[in-house]
Amino acid sequence: MHTKWLTGRTALVTGASRGIGAAIATSLAEAGARVCLTGRSEEALHEVATSIEADGGEVAFTCSHDLAERDGVNALVDDVFELAGHVDILVNNAGIGSREDLRPVVEFDPAFWDRTLALNLTAPFLLCRALVPGMVSRGFGRVIQVASINGRVPSSHGAAYVTSKHGLIGFTRALAIEVAPHGVTVNAVCPGPVDVDDDRRIAFDAARAGVTVAELERRLTPMGGRLLPSEIAPLTAFLASDGARSITGQSINVDRGMVMS
Ligand SMILES: NC(=O)c1ccc[n+]([C@@H]2O[C@H](COP(=O)([O-])OP(=O)(O)OC[C@H]3O[C@@H](n4cnc5c(N)ncnc54)[C@H](OP(=O)(O)O)[C@@H]3O)[C@@H](O)[C@H]2O)c1
Repeated sequence: MHTKWLTGRTALVTGASRGIGAAIATSLAEAGARVCLTGRSEEALHEVATSIEADGGEVAFTCSHDLAERDGVNALVDDVFELAGHVDILVNNAGIGSREDLRPVVEFDPAFWDRTLALNLTAPFLLCRALVPGMVSRGFGRVIQVASINGRVPSSHGAAYVTSKHGLIGFTRALAIEVAPHGVTVNAVCPGPVDVDDDRRIAFDAARAGVTVAELERRLTPMGGRLLPSEIAPLTAFLASDGARSITGQSINVDRGMVMS
């Protein structure tokens, strides 16, 4: 298979400073895309950019914005048009995870609810609103949402996260049907639990189940253990390619067999 199948494409990856987003940006650059990297930590973004460039990849720019704020999204869109011109591939990855502020619904902090929905759901909508018209006019585009298996099934004590990811899958379908005639596909990747150096969720679940983290991790998925960020990236690179032109409106689990629907 041609390994540089994204040559000539420009990709924007949100939340590219670490974790899944950094792995996706690296994978898209390896496939030949020119990548735009955004997150909040400038230092971490520079590290990812340096690593990509050291491997021969092309970074259009890095920029730091808070995408939970509407001004931050607008500033990112301005940067894209000024520094990259356009975007062919949009990866909406930045998100507040289920591990943050775990509480039952009746104790949920409304401000945390608002911030989670703003980053996980409204920012992808606003970025699509700004960037998809260019894709439509060029007759090619790829929108890839990093949702979650919690967009398909719930987990307890993370209502804002679960709601945002269910909403993101709904939004994926709503947009996909509108832009289907124009060469633009819209899909969601749904990771299972990924090891991103933050054990708060698994420690919380292990404590509730009365088992050790190691024991819970062993039986977390049918294949055992958590995923690596690099295991999410290849599907994203494929969905961005010409070869995936007939796949749209889909939500695809990458979860070691945890949710089989
Ligand atoms: N890890 C999992 O188990 C898992 C499972 C399923 C789905 N997911 C989803 O995958 C995506 C990435 O998760 P991850 O685990 O890789 O996350 P992570 O390691 O916590 O990284 C989150 C990324 O998003 C950026 N970010 C966070 N808040 C932001 C904000 N307000 N404005 C702009 N950027 C912001 C971070 O930037 P800075 O670091 O620079 O602040 C970072 O680059 C999320 O949408 C998450 O819901 C994760």
